Amino acid sequence: MAKELLEKARSYEREQLYKAQGDRPLFHMTAIAGWINDPNGFAPYKGEYHLFFQYYPYDLKWGTMHWGHAKTEDFIRWEHLPCALAPDKEYDKDGCFSGGALELSDGRHLLMYTGVSSKINKDGKTETFQTQCIAFGDGENYEKYEANPVIAKDLLPEGSDAYDFRDPKIWHEDDKYYAVIGNRGPDKSGRILLYESRDAVKWSFVSVLAACNNQYGRMWECPDFFKLDNKHVLIVSPQEMSAVGPEFHPGNANVCLIGTFDKKLHVLDREAVQAVDYGLDFYAPQTLLTKDGRRVMIGWMQNWETSMHTLPDTSFMGQMTLPRELSVKNNRLYQMPVRELDAYRAERVYYSDIRINGEKCLDGIKGRYIDMTINVRPADENGLYKRFCIYVAKDTVHYTLISFDPGENTITVDRTCGGFPHDIVNVRAFPVNSQKGRLKLRLIMDRFSLELFVNDGMQAASFIIYTASDADGISFESDGEVAAEVEKYELRVSCFDH
Ligand code: FRU
Repeated sequence: MAKELLEKARSYEREQLYKAQGDRPLFHMTAIAGWINDPNGFAPYKGEYHLFFQYYPYDLKWGTMHWGHAKTEDFIRWEHLPCALAPDKEYDKDGCFSGGALELSDGRHLLMYTGVSSKINKDGKTETFQTQCIAFGDGENYEKYEANPVIAKDLLPEGSDAYDFRDPKIWHEDDKYYAVIGNRGPDKSGRILLYESRDAVKWSFVSVLAACNNQYGRMWECPDFFKLDNKHVLIVSPQEMSAVGPEFHPGNANVCLIGTFDKKLHVLDREAVQAVDYGLDFYAPQTLLTKDGRRVMIGWMQNWETSMHTLPDTSFMGQMTLPRELSVKNNRLYQMPVRELDAYRAERVYYSDIRINGEKCLDGIKGRYIDMTINVRPADENGLYKRFCIYVAKDTVHYTLISFDPGENTITVDRTCGGFPHDIVNVRAFPVNSQKGRLKLRLIMDRFSLELFVNDGMQAASFIIYTASDADGISFESDGEVAAEVEKYELRVSCFDH
Protein backbone atom coordinates (compact mmCIF):
# COMPACT_ATOMS: atom_id res chain seq x y z
CA MET A 1 0.00 0.00 0.00
CA ALA A 2 3.13 2.14 0.49
CA LYS A 3 2.15 5.79 0.83
CA GLU A 4 -0.83 5.93 -1.50
CA LEU A 5 -3.33 6.80 1.22
CA LEU A 6 -1.12 9.55 2.57
CA GLU A 7 -0.57 10.99 -0.89
CA LYS A 8 -4.29 10.85 -1.56
CA ALA A 9 -5.00 12.83 1.62
CA ARG A 10 -2.27 15.36 0.87
CA SER A 11 -3.40 16.00 -2.69
CA TYR A 12 -7.01 16.29 -1.50
CA GLU A 13 -5.85 18.92 1.01
CA ARG A 14 -4.11 20.88 -1.74
CA GLU A 15 -7.34 20.86 -3.77
CA GLN A 16 -9.38 22.01 -0.79
CA LEU A 17 -7.06 24.89 0.09
CA TYR A 18 -8.86 27.28 -2.22
CA LYS A 19 -12.22 26.47 -0.71
CA ALA A 20 -11.04 26.55 2.88
CA GLN A 21 -11.47 30.21 3.81
CA GLY A 22 -15.26 30.71 4.03
CA ASP A 23 -17.15 31.19 7.21
CA ARG A 24 -14.66 29.94 9.76
CA PRO A 25 -13.33 30.78 13.18
CA LEU A 26 -10.40 33.19 13.05
CA PHE A 27 -8.06 31.83 15.67
CA HIS A 28 -9.46 28.47 16.73
CA MET A 29 -7.75 25.66 14.85
CA THR A 30 -9.88 23.99 12.18
CA ALA A 31 -8.78 21.58 9.45
CA ILE A 32 -8.44 22.50 5.80
CA ALA A 33 -11.24 20.09 5.02
CA GLY A 34 -13.41 17.48 6.62
CA TRP A 35 -13.75 16.22 10.13
CA ILE A 36 -11.50 16.58 13.18
CA ASN A 37 -11.73 15.29 16.71
CA ASP A 38 -9.09 14.90 19.43
CA PRO A 39 -5.93 16.99 19.57
CA ASN A 40 -2.89 14.71 19.23
CA GLY A 41 0.85 15.12 19.66
CA PHE A 42 0.51 18.62 21.12
CA ALA A 43 4.18 19.32 21.94
CA PRO A 44 7.06 21.66 21.16
CA TYR A 45 9.31 20.72 18.25
CA LYS A 46 12.29 22.79 17.11
CA GLY A 47 11.04 25.97 18.74
CA GLU A 48 7.44 25.77 17.50
CA TYR A 49 4.34 24.12 18.87
CA HIS A 50 3.00 21.29 16.78
CA LEU A 51 -0.53 20.03 16.91
CA PHE A 52 -1.79 16.90 15.22
CA PHE A 53 -5.40 15.85 15.30
CA GLN A 54 -7.79 13.01 14.59
CA TYR A 55 -8.78 13.67 11.03
CA TYR A 56 -10.96 12.41 8.21
CA PRO A 57 -10.46 14.84 5.33
CA TYR A 58 -13.11 13.48 2.96
CA ASP A 59 -16.31 14.00 4.92
CA LEU A 60 -17.85 16.04 7.72
CA LYS A 61 -18.30 12.82 9.67
CA TRP A 62 -15.87 10.56 11.50
CA GLY A 63 -14.17 8.03 9.20
CA THR A 64 -10.97 5.95 9.13
CA MET A 65 -8.67 8.11 11.17
CA HIS A 66 -5.66 9.95 9.79
CA TRP A 67 -3.47 12.42 11.67
CA GLY A 68 -3.87 15.98 10.42
CA HIS A 69 -1.10 18.45 11.24
CA ALA A 70 -0.63 22.13 12.06
CA LYS A 71 1.85 24.27 13.96
CA THR A 72 1.92 27.61 15.70
CA GLU A 73 4.34 29.96 17.38
CA ASP A 74 1.85 31.69 19.60
CA PHE A 75 -1.24 29.41 19.90
CA ILE A 76 -3.33 31.96 17.99
CA ARG A 77 -2.13 31.86 14.40
CA TRP A 78 -1.95 28.35 12.97
CA GLU A 79 -0.14 27.10 9.92
CA HIS A 80 -1.44 23.98 8.26
CA LEU A 81 1.00 21.24 7.34
CA PRO A 82 0.34 18.22 5.15
CA CYS A 83 -1.48 15.23 6.62
CA ALA A 84 1.04 13.34 8.76
CA LEU A 85 -0.28 9.79 9.08
CA ALA A 86 -2.68 7.71 7.02
CA PRO A 87 -4.06 4.28 7.99
CA ASP A 88 -1.90 2.40 5.51
CA LYS A 89 -0.43 -0.53 7.46
CA GLU A 90 -1.95 -3.83 8.46
CA TYR A 91 -1.73 -2.85 12.15
CA ASP A 92 -3.47 0.54 11.68
CA LYS A 93 -5.69 -0.10 8.66
CA ASP A 94 -8.83 0.71 10.69
CA GLY A 95 -7.42 3.97 11.98
CA CYS A 96 -4.47 5.88 13.39
CA PHE A 97 -6.08 6.79 16.70
CA SER A 98 -4.99 9.39 19.24
CA GLY A 99 -1.54 9.72 20.75
CA GLY A 100 1.33 12.01 21.65
CA ALA A 101 4.58 13.40 20.28
CA LEU A 102 8.02 14.34 21.49
CA GLU A 103 11.26 15.90 20.22
CA LEU A 104 14.04 13.33 20.63
CA SER A 105 17.55 14.36 21.65
CA ASP A 106 18.84 13.52 18.16
CA GLY A 107 16.38 16.03 16.66
CA ARG A 108 13.85 13.54 15.32
CA HIS A 109 10.14 14.04 15.95
CA LEU A 110 8.60 10.97 17.55
CA LEU A 111 4.88 10.26 17.21
CA MET A 112 3.20 7.56 19.27
CA TYR A 113 -0.35 6.58 18.37
CA THR A 114 -2.85 3.77 18.59
CA GLY A 115 -3.11 1.52 15.56
CA VAL A 116 -6.51 -0.07 15.16
CA SER A 117 -6.87 -3.26 13.20
CA SER A 118 -9.59 -5.86 13.00
CA LYS A 119 -9.68 -9.32 11.57
CA ILE A 120 -12.35 -11.92 11.06
CA ASN A 121 -11.72 -15.08 13.05
CA LYS A 122 -12.47 -18.64 11.97
CA ASP A 123 -15.77 -18.52 13.86
CA GLY A 124 -16.81 -15.55 11.68
CA LYS A 125 -16.55 -13.05 14.51
CA THR A 126 -14.64 -9.82 14.08
CA GLU A 127 -11.90 -9.16 16.58
CA THR A 128 -10.38 -5.71 16.89
CA PHE A 129 -7.06 -4.86 18.47
CA GLN A 130 -5.65 -1.56 19.56
CA THR A 131 -1.87 -1.46 19.79
CA GLN A 132 0.61 1.34 20.30
CA CYS A 133 2.77 2.30 17.35
CA ILE A 134 5.46 4.87 16.64
CA ALA A 135 6.68 6.97 13.72
CA PHE A 136 9.74 9.19 13.30
CA GLY A 137 9.89 12.38 11.30
CA ASP A 138 11.31 15.83 10.69
CA GLY A 139 8.29 17.98 11.52
CA GLU A 140 6.57 17.33 8.19
CA ASN A 141 7.20 13.80 6.92
CA TYR A 142 6.96 10.70 9.08
CA GLU A 143 8.05 7.09 8.64
CA LYS A 144 6.30 4.42 10.62
CA TYR A 145 8.70 2.22 12.59
CA GLU A 146 9.34 -1.07 10.78
CA ALA A 147 8.77 -3.21 13.87
CA ASN A 148 5.44 -1.68 14.93
CA PRO A 149 3.54 -2.13 17.17
CA VAL A 150 5.81 -1.31 20.11
CA ILE A 151 3.21 -2.02 22.78
CA ALA A 152 0.76 -4.83 22.10
CA LYS A 153 -1.40 -7.31 23.99
CA ASP A 154 1.61 -9.13 25.51
CA LEU A 155 2.52 -6.02 27.50
CA LEU A 156 -0.93 -5.66 29.02
CA PRO A 157 -1.39 -6.60 32.67
CA GLU A 158 -3.65 -9.54 33.56
CA GLY A 159 -7.36 -9.04 32.90
CA SER A 160 -6.94 -6.05 30.58
CA ASP A 161 -9.19 -5.43 27.64
CA ALA A 162 -7.11 -5.57 24.43
CA TYR A 163 -9.72 -3.66 22.45
CA ASP A 164 -10.07 -0.68 24.80
CA PHE A 165 -6.36 0.14 24.95
CA ARG A 166 -5.55 3.47 23.39
CA ASP A 167 -4.35 7.08 23.28
CA PRO A 168 -0.75 7.07 24.57
CA LYS A 169 0.55 10.38 25.91
CA ILE A 170 4.34 10.40 26.14
CA TRP A 171 6.93 12.45 27.95
CA HIS A 172 10.59 12.33 28.91
CA GLU A 173 11.75 12.55 32.50
CA ASP A 174 14.92 11.57 34.37
CA ASP A 175 16.50 9.80 31.39
CA LYS A 176 13.44 7.73 30.62
CA TYR A 177 10.43 7.90 28.36
CA TYR A 178 7.02 7.39 29.87
CA ALA A 179 3.58 6.82 28.41
CA VAL A 180 0.13 6.83 29.99
CA ILE A 181 -2.46 4.82 28.06
CA GLY A 182 -6.23 4.42 28.49
CA ASN A 183 -7.55 0.93 29.14
CA ARG A 184 -10.37 -1.08 30.72
CA GLY A 185 -9.52 -3.41 33.56
CA PRO A 186 -11.03 -6.64 34.90
CA ASP A 187 -13.86 -4.65 36.53
CA LYS A 188 -14.82 -3.43 33.03
CA SER A 189 -14.24 0.20 33.86
CA GLY A 190 -11.58 2.69 32.85
CA ARG A 191 -8.05 2.86 34.16
CA ILE A 192 -4.76 4.39 33.12
CA LEU A 193 -1.68 2.26 32.54
CA LEU A 194 1.84 3.60 32.93
CA TYR A 195 4.68 2.35 30.69
CA GLU A 196 8.37 3.23 30.54
CA SER A 197 11.22 2.91 28.07
CA ARG A 198 14.90 3.78 27.77
CA ASP A 199 14.78 4.42 24.02
CA ALA A 200 11.08 5.05 23.21
CA VAL A 201 11.05 1.82 21.19
CA LYS A 202 11.26 -1.01 23.73
CA TRP A 203 8.61 -0.50 26.38
CA SER A 204 7.67 -2.19 29.64
CA PHE A 205 4.62 -2.03 31.83
CA VAL A 206 5.07 -0.16 35.13
CA SER A 207 1.75 0.16 36.95
CA VAL A 208 -1.93 0.96 36.95
CA LEU A 209 -1.53 4.67 37.61
CA ALA A 210 -5.19 5.26 38.48
CA ALA A 211 -8.45 3.37 38.16
CA CYS A 212 -12.02 4.43 37.78
CA ASN A 213 -13.53 1.57 39.85
CA ASN A 214 -16.82 2.06 38.02
CA GLN A 215 -17.13 5.52 39.47
CA TYR A 216 -16.60 7.83 36.50
CA GLY A 217 -17.65 6.24 33.22
CA ARG A 218 -17.06 3.02 31.32
CA MET A 219 -13.71 3.67 29.63
CA TRP A 220 -11.10 6.35 30.25
CA GLU A 221 -9.83 7.77 26.95
CA CYS A 222 -7.11 10.27 26.14
CA PRO A 223 -5.14 10.52 29.40
CA ASP A 224 -2.63 13.24 30.15
CA PHE A 225 -0.46 13.23 33.25
CA PHE A 226 1.83 16.01 34.45
CA LYS A 227 3.28 17.80 37.42
CA LEU A 228 1.94 21.27 38.11
CA ASP A 229 2.40 23.58 41.08
CA ASN A 230 3.73 20.75 43.29
CA LYS A 231 0.82 18.46 42.53
CA HIS A 232 0.27 15.75 39.95
CA VAL A 233 -2.65 16.10 37.59
CA LEU A 234 -4.28 13.32 35.61
CA ILE A 235 -6.81 14.32 32.97
CA VAL A 236 -9.05 11.67 31.42
CA SER A 237 -12.04 11.67 29.10
CA PRO A 238 -14.57 9.07 30.29
CA GLN A 239 -17.02 7.45 27.92
CA GLU A 240 -20.58 6.79 28.96
CA MET A 241 -20.48 8.52 32.28
CA SER A 242 -23.59 8.99 34.40
CA ALA A 243 -24.13 12.41 35.89
CA VAL A 244 -22.47 12.81 39.29
CA GLY A 245 -24.12 15.66 41.18
CA PRO A 246 -24.02 19.01 39.43
CA GLU A 247 -20.27 18.62 38.78
CA PHE A 248 -20.31 15.96 36.05
CA HIS A 249 -22.76 15.78 33.18
CA PRO A 250 -23.72 12.47 31.58
CA GLY A 251 -22.22 11.15 28.36
CA ASN A 252 -18.69 11.86 27.18
CA ALA A 253 -17.38 13.91 30.05
CA ASN A 254 -13.98 15.10 31.20
CA VAL A 255 -12.41 14.53 34.59
CA CYS A 256 -9.36 15.92 36.33
CA LEU A 257 -7.79 14.00 39.22
CA ILE A 258 -5.38 15.95 41.39
CA GLY A 259 -3.06 14.33 43.90
CA THR A 260 0.40 13.17 44.77
CA PHE A 261 2.41 10.72 42.68
CA ASP A 262 3.71 7.86 44.78
CA LYS A 263 7.12 7.34 43.18
CA LYS A 264 7.61 3.90 44.78
CA LEU A 265 4.30 2.33 43.83
CA HIS A 266 3.86 4.47 40.71
CA VAL A 267 0.28 5.33 41.53
CA LEU A 268 -1.54 8.62 41.83
CA ASP A 269 -2.85 9.17 45.34
CA ARG A 270 -6.02 11.01 44.54
CA GLU A 271 -6.85 14.08 46.60
CA ALA A 272 -9.44 15.92 44.51
CA VAL A 273 -11.65 15.25 41.51
CA GLN A 274 -13.34 17.86 39.33
CA ALA A 275 -14.63 18.48 35.82
CA VAL A 276 -12.10 20.07 33.47
CA ASP A 277 -14.59 22.09 31.42
CA TYR A 278 -18.21 22.73 32.32
CA GLY A 279 -19.55 23.53 28.85
CA LEU A 280 -21.32 21.47 26.20
CA ASP A 281 -18.45 21.10 23.78
CA PHE A 282 -15.20 19.86 25.23
CA TYR A 283 -13.39 16.53 25.07
CA ALA A 284 -10.03 14.77 24.92
CA PRO A 285 -7.71 17.64 25.93
CA GLN A 286 -3.92 17.46 25.77
CA THR A 287 -1.26 19.64 27.33
CA LEU A 288 2.30 20.72 26.65
CA LEU A 289 5.00 22.60 28.51
CA THR A 290 6.04 25.88 26.88
CA LYS A 291 9.61 27.18 26.65
CA ASP A 292 8.89 29.53 29.55
CA GLY A 293 7.47 26.75 31.75
CA ARG A 294 3.73 27.17 31.31
CA ARG A 295 1.45 24.14 31.12
CA VAL A 296 -0.90 24.84 28.21
CA MET A 297 -3.96 22.75 27.35
CA ILE A 298 -5.98 22.46 24.15
CA GLY A 299 -9.19 20.44 23.77
CA TRP A 300 -11.55 19.29 21.04
CA MET A 301 -14.28 21.95 21.20
CA GLN A 302 -17.03 19.52 20.36
CA ASN A 303 -18.18 16.29 21.87
CA TRP A 304 -19.34 12.94 20.50
CA GLU A 305 -22.87 13.75 21.60
CA THR A 306 -22.96 17.20 20.02
CA SER A 307 -21.19 16.39 16.76
CA MET A 308 -23.79 14.31 14.97
CA HIS A 309 -25.05 17.21 12.89
CA THR A 310 -23.41 20.02 10.97
CA LEU A 311 -24.75 23.12 9.34
CA PRO A 312 -25.31 22.81 5.59
CA ASP A 313 -22.66 24.50 3.41
CA THR A 314 -19.78 24.26 5.83
CA SER A 315 -16.41 23.02 4.69
CA PHE A 316 -15.20 21.83 8.07
CA MET A 317 -16.44 19.98 11.12
CA GLY A 318 -14.79 20.39 14.47
CA GLN A 319 -12.45 22.92 15.99
CA MET A 320 -10.05 23.10 18.90
CA THR A 321 -10.46 25.28 21.98
CA LEU A 322 -8.35 28.31 22.55
CA PRO A 323 -5.20 27.01 24.29
CA ARG A 324 -5.33 27.68 28.03
CA GLU A 325 -2.73 28.19 30.72
CA LEU A 326 -3.22 25.84 33.64
CA SER A 327 -2.42 26.17 37.31
CA VAL A 328 -3.36 24.36 40.51
CA LYS A 329 -4.43 26.30 43.59
CA ASN A 330 -5.85 24.63 46.68
CA ASN A 331 -6.14 21.32 44.86
CA ARG A 332 -8.19 22.89 42.09
CA LEU A 333 -7.37 23.22 38.41
CA TYR A 334 -7.50 26.79 37.09
CA GLN A 335 -7.39 27.75 33.44
CA MET A 336 -7.13 31.05 31.60
CA PRO A 337 -6.68 31.92 27.91
CA VAL A 338 -3.03 31.91 26.83
CA ARG A 339 -1.51 35.33 27.40
CA GLU A 340 -0.48 35.47 23.72
CA LEU A 341 -4.10 36.41 22.96
CA ASP A 342 -3.54 39.85 24.50
CA ALA A 343 -1.44 40.90 21.49
CA TYR A 344 -4.51 40.56 19.25
CA ARG A 345 -6.78 42.82 21.29
CA ALA A 346 -7.93 46.08 19.71
CA GLU A 347 -10.52 48.83 20.20
CA ARG A 348 -10.94 48.78 23.94
CA VAL A 349 -14.35 49.77 25.28
CA TYR A 350 -14.51 50.28 29.02
CA TYR A 351 -17.27 51.02 31.55
CA SER A 352 -15.94 51.39 35.06
CA ASP A 353 -19.15 51.44 37.07
CA ILE A 354 -22.55 51.01 35.51
CA ARG A 355 -25.85 50.05 37.08
CA ILE A 356 -28.07 47.44 35.50
CA ASN A 357 -31.64 46.77 36.58
CA GLY A 358 -33.86 45.33 33.88
CA GLU A 359 -32.53 45.30 30.32
CA LYS A 360 -29.51 47.25 29.11
CA CYS A 361 -27.38 47.61 25.98
CA LEU A 362 -24.05 49.43 26.15
CA ASP A 363 -22.57 51.49 23.32
CA GLY A 364 -19.69 49.65 21.68
CA ILE A 365 -20.47 46.34 23.33
CA LYS A 366 -21.21 43.88 20.56
CA GLY A 367 -19.33 41.50 18.28
CA ARG A 368 -18.52 37.90 17.48
CA TYR A 369 -14.72 38.13 17.81
CA ILE A 370 -14.36 39.50 21.26
CA ASP A 371 -12.55 39.27 24.55
CA MET A 372 -14.84 40.74 27.22
CA THR A 373 -14.52 40.75 30.99
CA ILE A 374 -17.39 41.67 33.23
CA ASN A 375 -17.30 42.10 36.99
CA VAL A 376 -20.70 42.07 38.66
CA ARG A 377 -21.72 42.72 42.26
CA PRO A 378 -24.97 43.65 44.01
CA ALA A 379 -25.58 47.42 43.73
CA ASP A 380 -26.63 47.39 47.34
CA GLU A 381 -23.86 45.65 49.29
CA ASN A 382 -26.37 44.21 51.74
CA GLY A 383 -28.85 42.99 49.18
CA LEU A 384 -28.72 40.24 46.59
CA TYR A 385 -30.07 40.41 43.07
CA LYS A 386 -32.02 37.42 41.77
CA ARG A 387 -30.51 36.83 38.34
CA PHE A 388 -28.02 38.45 36.02
CA CYS A 389 -28.01 37.64 32.28
CA ILE A 390 -25.86 38.28 29.24
CA TYR A 391 -27.30 37.70 25.78
CA VAL A 392 -24.72 37.13 23.05
CA ALA A 393 -24.78 36.32 19.31
CA LYS A 394 -28.07 38.14 19.26
CA ASP A 395 -30.32 39.47 16.50
CA THR A 396 -34.07 39.96 16.47
CA VAL A 397 -34.71 36.19 16.69
CA HIS A 398 -31.54 34.49 17.88
CA TYR A 399 -29.48 34.61 21.02
CA THR A 400 -27.41 32.53 23.40
CA LEU A 401 -28.10 33.25 27.04
CA ILE A 402 -25.63 33.16 29.91
CA SER A 403 -27.42 33.57 33.24
CA PHE A 404 -26.12 33.65 36.76
CA ASP A 405 -28.21 32.86 39.82
CA PRO A 406 -26.31 34.20 42.86
CA GLY A 407 -28.62 32.43 45.34
CA GLU A 408 -27.96 29.01 43.83
CA ASN A 409 -24.43 29.98 42.75
CA THR A 410 -25.09 28.50 39.32
CA ILE A 411 -24.36 29.60 35.77
CA THR A 412 -26.64 28.34 33.01
CA VAL A 413 -25.82 28.66 29.33
CA ASP A 414 -28.67 28.15 26.89
CA ARG A 415 -28.17 28.14 23.12
CA THR A 416 -31.64 26.77 22.28
CA CYS A 417 -32.47 29.93 20.34
CA GLY A 418 -29.11 30.05 18.58
CA GLY A 419 -30.66 28.92 15.31
CA PHE A 420 -29.23 25.40 15.01
CA PRO A 421 -31.91 23.24 13.38
CA HIS A 422 -31.21 20.02 15.31
CA ASP A 423 -32.31 18.94 18.73
CA ILE A 424 -28.89 18.40 20.25
CA VAL A 425 -28.32 19.18 23.93
CA ASN A 426 -28.44 22.96 24.20
CA VAL A 427 -28.49 23.83 27.89
CA ARG A 428 -25.87 23.32 30.54
CA ALA A 429 -25.91 24.50 34.15
CA PHE A 430 -22.91 24.32 36.43
CA PRO A 431 -22.07 25.34 39.98
CA VAL A 432 -19.67 28.23 40.57
CA ASN A 433 -17.98 29.54 43.64
CA SER A 434 -18.99 33.19 43.90
CA GLN A 435 -19.16 35.09 47.15
CA LYS A 436 -22.12 37.36 47.90
CA GLY A 437 -23.16 37.69 44.27
CA ARG A 438 -19.74 38.83 43.06
CA LEU A 439 -18.97 37.27 39.72
CA LYS A 440 -16.11 37.79 37.31
CA LEU A 441 -16.65 36.43 33.84
CA ARG A 442 -14.33 36.53 30.85
CA LEU A 443 -15.93 35.68 27.51
CA ILE A 444 -13.98 34.79 24.41
CA MET A 445 -15.95 34.60 21.20
CA ASP A 446 -14.62 33.56 17.81
CA ARG A 447 -17.60 33.57 15.49
CA PHE A 448 -18.84 30.03 16.15
CA SER A 449 -17.81 29.61 19.76
CA LEU A 450 -18.13 31.00 23.24
CA GLU A 451 -15.61 30.16 25.96
CA LEU A 452 -16.26 31.31 29.50
CA PHE A 453 -13.64 31.72 32.21
CA VAL A 454 -15.26 32.15 35.59
CA ASN A 455 -13.76 33.92 38.61
CA ASP A 456 -10.19 34.19 37.31
CA GLY A 457 -10.15 30.75 35.77
CA MET A 458 -11.62 28.71 38.60
CA GLN A 459 -13.87 27.24 35.93
CA ALA A 460 -13.98 27.19 32.16
CA ALA A 461 -16.91 26.29 29.92
CA SER A 462 -16.86 25.87 26.13
CA PHE A 463 -19.75 26.11 23.71
CA ILE A 464 -20.12 25.98 19.96
CA ILE A 465 -22.61 28.54 18.67
CA TYR A 466 -23.99 27.89 15.22
CA THR A 467 -25.75 31.25 14.83
CA ALA A 468 -24.99 33.15 11.59
CA SER A 469 -22.12 35.51 12.26
CA ASP A 470 -24.03 38.75 11.57
CA ALA A 471 -25.99 38.13 14.80
CA ASP A 472 -23.50 40.13 16.85
CA GLY A 473 -25.67 41.87 19.45
CA ILE A 474 -24.88 41.73 23.18
CA SER A 475 -27.21 42.88 25.93
CA PHE A 476 -27.50 42.59 29.69
CA GLU A 477 -30.44 41.99 31.96
CA SER A 478 -30.72 41.94 35.71
CA ASP A 479 -33.48 41.02 38.11
CA GLY A 480 -32.46 43.28 41.00
CA GLU A 481 -29.87 46.00 40.61
CA VAL A 482 -26.22 45.16 39.99
CA ALA A 483 -23.13 47.31 39.68
CA ALA A 484 -20.84 46.21 36.87
CA GLU A 485 -17.48 46.93 35.30
CA VAL A 486 -17.19 45.94 31.63
CA GLU A 487 -14.08 45.81 29.49
CA LYS A 488 -14.29 44.65 25.90
CA TYR A 489 -11.80 44.22 23.06
CA GLU A 490 -12.24 43.20 19.45
CA LEU A 491 -9.94 40.34 18.54
CA ARG A 492 -8.13 41.02 15.30
CA VAL A 493 -6.47 37.98 13.82
CA SER A 494 -5.93 37.63 10.11
CA CYS A 495 -7.17 34.23 9.02
CA PHE A 496 -5.06 31.08 9.37
CA ASP A 497 -2.08 30.48 7.11
CA HIS A 498 -1.78 27.63 4.68
C1 FRU B 1 -11.66 10.07 21.83
C2 FRU B 1 -11.41 8.91 20.90
C3 FRU B 1 -10.09 8.23 21.23
C4 FRU B 1 -9.68 7.62 19.94
C5 FRU B 1 -10.18 8.62 18.95
C6 FRU B 1 -10.67 8.03 17.67
O1 FRU B 1 -12.47 11.06 21.30
O2 FRU B 1 -12.48 8.00 20.95
O3 FRU B 1 -10.17 7.33 22.29
O4 FRU B 1 -8.31 7.45 19.89
O5 FRU B 1 -11.23 9.33 19.56
O6 FRU B 1 -10.90 9.02 16.72
